[in-house]
Amino acid sequence: MKKITIQDILDYKKSKTPFAALTAYDYTSAKIVDSAEIPLILVGDSAAMVMLGHKNTLPISMQEMKLFVKSVSNGAKNALIVADMPFMSYQSSVKTALENAGQFIKECGANAVKLEGGESIIPQIKAIVNSGIPVIGHIGLMPQSIHQMSGFKIQGKGVSSAKKLIQDSLKIQKSGAFALVLEGIPVELAQIITNKLDIPTIGIGAGPFCDGQIQVFHDILGLDNSFHPKHCKVYINLQDKINQAVKSYIVEVSTKTFPTSKNSINLHPSVLKSIS
Ligand code: KIV
Repeated sequence: MKKITIQDILDYKKSKTPFAALTAYDYTSAKIVDSAEIPLILVGDSAAMVMLGHKNTLPISMQEMKLFVKSVSNGAKNALIVADMPFMSYQSSVKTALENAGQFIKECGANAVKLEGGESIIPQIKAIVNSGIPVIGHIGLMPQSIHQMSGFKIQGKGVSSAKKLIQDSLKIQKSGAFALVLEGIPVELAQIITNKLDIPTIGIGAGPFCDGQIQVFHDILGLDNSFHPKHCKVYINLQDKINQAVKSYIVEVSTKTFPTSKNSINLHPSVLKSIS
């Protein structure tokens, strides 16, 4: 498989071929996901929750995100790697946005960046695109605006909020973004936006009519059984499988079943004789 480009992502829409995207946050998981031939890996700021254990995505810093993006870049050779810009790394000014987006590309090996927001961040999107960095927009349920939205709530259910999302999507496309994440919006609205745009939409909790779908690594692999979002399908229960494997290891150590000669190295008899 060859390295996925922005053109490849645009071509999925042109050829009406739905594509999958997934988050990853570290070298090993990125290597596994990449070897499964996923075209796009997002190093999401969801790392704040699934990797650092925070209650929402707000606390994660650029420094923390850069570490995750670097590890993923080292593991994924073919997938397009998109770095999620964390809260307050782009909202305050165009200059801050440009500097931080540049660091993801220059220092961490990302191929593109993603920013949450509509009309208010259009200047940032334009400036980043003009500097040669590909951008993915993100509208609908925006976890970085959790307080403004009064929680993780589906967006665009009423006429005015749905119209606003349609307008925002068109403005983001006009600003030069090459794709748009639609999170937590009704199926029909996602379909309308997808049909209006030339760039691909990537849905999460936005129904089946988006051009692509994105999910969080930990959600689809069942790494945390304490919470399964409605939009996710659990393809394997890794929490239970890992738990069972660790329990087997504990039992085998305590019963002296592990390690065996297969896992051990012996001294040469002559060396043994001279030291014993
Ligand atoms: O941070 C994240 O993981 C995301 C996706 C789920 C779209 O923004």
